[in-house]
Amino acid sequence: MEPVDRRDFMKSVAGSAALAAFDAKPGVAQGSDSGPVFLATWTWGQSAVNRAAEVFKGGGSLLDAVEKGINVPESDPKVTTVGYGGYPNEEGIVELDAGIMDGTRHRAGCVYNLHMIKNPISVARLVLEKTRHTQMAGEGAFRLALKFGFQLEQLLTPESLQAWLKWKADPKHETFWVTTENHDTIGFVAADGKGHVVSGCSTSGLAWKVPGRVADSPIVGCGIYADDNVGAASATGDGDLMTNYCTSISIVHNMARGASPQDACVDLLQHMAKTDPRNKQAAVAVIAINNRGEIGAACMQKGFHLKYALWRNGEGKLLDAVEVY
Ligand code: GLY
Repeated sequence: MEPVDRRDFMKSVAGSAALAAFDAKPGVAQGSDSGPVFLATWTWGQSAVNRAAEVFKGGGSLLDAVEKGINVPESDPKVTTVGYGGYPNEEGIVELDAGIMDGTRHRAGCVYNLHMIKNPISVARLVLEKTRHTQMAGEGAFRLALKFGFQLEQLLTPESLQAWLKWKADPKHETFWVTTENHDTIGFVAADGKGHVVSGCSTSGLAWKVPGRVADSPIVGCGIYADDNVGAASATGDGDLMTNYCTSISIVHNMARGASPQDACVDLLQHMAKTDPRNKQAAVAVIAINNRGEIGAACMQKGFHLKYALWRNGEGKLLDAVEVY
């Protein structure tokens, strides 16, 4: 027998343990049901998790619950960072991005730069269910939505139009040819209590963004990631920055190595700060859930304090995420 180098042996044991975490479904006994858990970012997450719980209780799947939950802020003109009423790009055009990922099939559907359709998460769901593709952008995503009966709508509201006109009229207005901070989103993660998880995310992106800009929200591994063997994660905030850290998959892989959802969220933000100390001031926040329904939520700093909505045991509440710096 070949002698085994101790370091190689330890590496292979560590590697096998990490891989085993993806195969094992820790803590989820066959047939057990600890009840569904829904977790979403920001105050508008509250009506989203309540709707998701209703859909799930009414017999919908976990994917249905996450999609219909996200539809609520998407359709609410008062939420100016998601769907209808979302602030437009610098040319006054609303461009929406969304993605949804099924932890059982390990498959996602995503849309980028969708115009004139107010519920991009439902078009992302179409990409997942009705095509063999994962991501569709712009014109193609728009035509897919029309083919399946989505209504063409003006997404600018009188309020978002006024906001854009005011920005445009200001001779000193800031643009994203340089950087500003004005982003958030709805990020959503859910567990069904039997080991199945889903992640979803929808956004109008940065107000006044450069046309065509896509950030983290609709990208697998960034704004969304779900794996039934481990858990799910999502993100909100400066997606131009977070895309470079593949936030959601990093958090899920950290959970696979044994971290709790809370520790995995904090660890990711600390890693971002370690690679560049200026990131301690970044406007970023993350949420996570494992396949046992344990949750985590963290924001980088108090200037971007994350309130998040949690629905569990028949009750929804608004909570404060941990500030890491
Ligand atoms: N995280 C949303 C965005 O930056 O577009």
